[in-house]
Order: sequence, then C-alpha cells, then structure tokens
Amino acid sequence: MERHASCDDTIESVAFGADEIATAVDRIAAEIVRDADDEPVLLVGVLKGALFFTADLARAIARRTPAAAAVNLDFIAITSYGNSHRSSGEVRLLKDTSEQLEGRNVILVEDIVDNGLTLAYLQNLVGGRAPKSLRTAVLLDKPYHRRVPVVLDYVGLQCPDTFIVGYGLDYQERYRSLPYLATLRASLFE
Ligand code: PRP
Repeated sequence: MERHASCDDTIESVAFGADEIATAVDRIAAEIVRDADDEPVLLVGVLKGALFFTADLARAIARRTPAAAAVNLDFIAITSYGNSHRSSGEVRLLKDTSEQLEGRNVILVEDIVDNGLTLAYLQNLVGGRAPKSLRTAVLLDKPYHRRVPVVLDYVGLQCPDTFIVGYGLDYQERYRSLPYLATLRASLFE
C-alpha cells in the first residue's frame, strides 16, 4: 500500500493510486480541449467531493491551451449522503453557482456518480439556465445501482462496487485529503 500520513487501519486497500488518477485526469483534459473547439469552458465543480478533481482538471486543461481564459471555474455544493455511506436519495442544494451560466460552455465536474440522483438534479438545474453547451466530467463511474439514467461525457475510472474514499471523497468527513482512492474495511460500517 502507498504510505501516507493519514493512512490508518480502517483503510483496506488502494483502489487507484495517485499516478492512475493523474493519468485519468490528464486524459479527460485532452478530451475536453479537443471538444472545446478553441472556445473557453466553465468548469462547475461539485463540492465537496470534486474539489481536488476540479483543481487538477483545470490545471491539466490550462497546460494544454495557450489562452489564459480558456478555462474558468465555479462551484456548486450539494449533499445527499450526509454522514452515511448510503445515499439518502434526497439531494439538497447547499450553495449555488455564482457565475452567469447562460451562453457558456459548461462542464459539470463530479467526483463520482453512483445512483445518479445528484447528477440528474444538477444536469436539470444547470441545463435550465440556457448554457451554450452542457457536458459532464466524472472521475469515478459506479454504474451498479443507478436509479436514474444520466449522460456522462467524460469518465476517468471505473469504480468497483464498493465504498471509495480519498481524493475528495469522504466517509463522515474523513479521508478527503488522501492523495489516492481507497476502499475501507467493511467492519467500519457494521
Ligand atoms: C457524493 C458525491 C456525488 C454524489 C454521488 O456527494 O460527491 O456528488 O454523492 O452520489 P449519487 O450518484 O448516488 O447521487 P455527497 O452527498 O457525499 O457530498 P460531498 O461531495 O460533499 O461529500
């Protein structure tokens, strides 16, 4: 296992290391730049989970484009899991975007899509604000328990059917700052 100061015996194994994450983020950045057709994009990161993914993706896009204004940033905050490892199924908006979305090439940036309710809510909300285009980038696709169909334009990694933490993802607000993605011991949820 990769060593890290936050590593403890509640972590079972590393699902994706920092290098694998960086490779996936860089590939998504290349796909976004390819599709942007030299127009600026507005990344809307979904807090808190997508904090690191959004930051790394923005810099990876910037490395590939000469124009300083090619990537703009905004954030939205929602919650559906609370402190549980299971979604409540009810999405709550905690913080709205601050940028004008009308006429912009918006990319929703999510850390993970599981049952899909959060993303469906966000795509509906943002799509209703007349963006020029709306695409979605997801670091982890976890398709086993979808409750609603969602369109994913950019996918980083296929998530195993288990609870994942790290690189922004939490369990009861812990583990977000791990630089890798990890599985937790099942005994933690008993
Ligand atoms: C998590 C995650 C996604 C959402 C995905 O957010 O960051 O936004 O759940 O779940 P779904 O596809 O089953 O709806 P969470 O509510 O845990 O908030 P957080 O990002 O602040 O941790």
